[in-house]
Amino acid sequence: MTTATATAFTARYGGSPDGVWAAPGRINLIGEHTDYNEGYVLPAALPHTTTVAARRRADGVVRLFSAQGDGEVTELALDALAPGSVPGWAAYPAGVFWALIEAGHALGGADLAFCSDVPTGAGLSSSATLECATAIALDDLFGLGLDAPGRALIAQRAENAFVGVPCGALDQMASSCCVAGHAHFLDTRTLTGRQVPLDLPAVGLTLLVIDTKVKHDLGDGAYAGLRAGCERAAALLGVPALRDITIAELGTAEAQLPAELRPLLRHVVTEDQRVLDTVAALDAGEPRALGPILTAGHASLRDDYRVSCPETDLAVSAANAAGALGARMMGGGFGGSVLALVDTALLDTVERAVHAAFAEAGFGAPQTFTATPSQGAHRVS
Ligand code: GLA
Repeated sequence: MTTATATAFTARYGGSPDGVWAAPGRINLIGEHTDYNEGYVLPAALPHTTTVAARRRADGVVRLFSAQGDGEVTELALDALAPGSVPGWAAYPAGVFWALIEAGHALGGADLAFCSDVPTGAGLSSSATLECATAIALDDLFGLGLDAPGRALIAQRAENAFVGVPCGALDQMASSCCVAGHAHFLDTRTLTGRQVPLDLPAVGLTLLVIDTKVKHDLGDGAYAGLRAGCERAAALLGVPALRDITIAELGTAEAQLPAELRPLLRHVVTEDQRVLDTVAALDAGEPRALGPILTAGHASLRDDYRVSCPETDLAVSAANAAGALGARMMGGGFGGSVLALVDTALLDTVERAVHAAFAEAGFGAPQTFTATPSQGAHRVS
C-alpha cells in the first residue's frame, strides 16, 4: 500500500512525497466502554492500516485527498481551521492540524494523500487511523518531537473537540502505541500500562474478526448519552470516575443509584475486572481461559450496557455454538465487529457456521478475517 499511496500522492499533487506513514486499526480483546470511565483496556493493532503520503508546503494551505473518498481534494487554510467547520472524513486529519496548533506547535501547510484498507464503521477504529497517521506524519515533517502517547492524545483531542465525538483514549492509544505480537494493557486514567505477549497461533488458537457490516456511527448521540450516564453515576456516588468502584463495592454502590444507571455501573465495574482477569490468564499462560471472559463481556454489553444489535448477538451465538471458545462485540456498538477466540483447527467450521446463520436470518453477508497483533503507527518510507 505504501507504493499505492505514493502513487496516489503523485497523481493528485505532482512530484514526490517527503515520506509515507502508516497507522493501524485495532481489535480490543476486552475492556469496552471503560476508557471514558478511566478504566482498563486491552487492545492489539491489526495488520490493516491507513497510510498517508505527505509533503510540507511553504504556505499555510492544507490539502487532503483520500483514495477511498469521492476523488475530490479538500483544501483548507491553516489559520481558518475551526471545530465543526470541515465535513466528512477530512475532519479527522484536519482536526489533527487544529489540535497540534492549539497545543502550541508551529506547523506549516502540507499536502496529504491517504489510502486505507481498514474497514470503516466496523468498530475497528478507522477514524483513529486517519488521525494517528496524520499525527505521526506531521510530527516527523515538522520535527515536533512528540512520543507515541503524545500523538495519541493529540488525535483524541482532534476527535473530541474538532470532530465532536466524546470518545475515550482507547482507539488512538491502540493505533499509536501497540507493538507487534502483543496486546497493550492500558490504564486509561494514568495512560500507563505494559505490552502483554500475545502469540495465540503458537498455542493453536486464532482470533477471528467477524465484521457484521452493520455500520455504526459514534456521532449519533447514543455514545454521548452513555458517557453522560456514567458521569452522572460517578457524580452521584461521589467518585471521580466509575473505575473507582471495585467489584466488592458494586452491590452497595448500585443501591445508591436510580434504576436506569445501575446497569451502566454493573457493566463498567465487571468489565474492568474482566480486563484484569484476562491479563492474569495471559500472564499465567492460560489463553483458553479468555473464551468465557469474552462471552461474559458480550452478555454484559448486550444486557446491561445495551449496545449490541441482532447481528452482533447472532455472530457471537453462532460462533460459540460452532465451537469457538468465546466471542464478543467490539467497539462502540450498535453494529460493527465481533471478536471470536477459536481453535485454529475449527476456524473453517466457525466461519462457515457464522455465514450460514446470517444467511438463514436474512442478514447481509458478514466479512471474516483473522487478526494478527501488529505494529502501531510508524514511518514506512
Ligand atoms: C469507541 C470509542 C472508544 C471506546 C469504545 C468502546 O471505539 O472511540 O473510545 O469508548 O468505543 O470501548
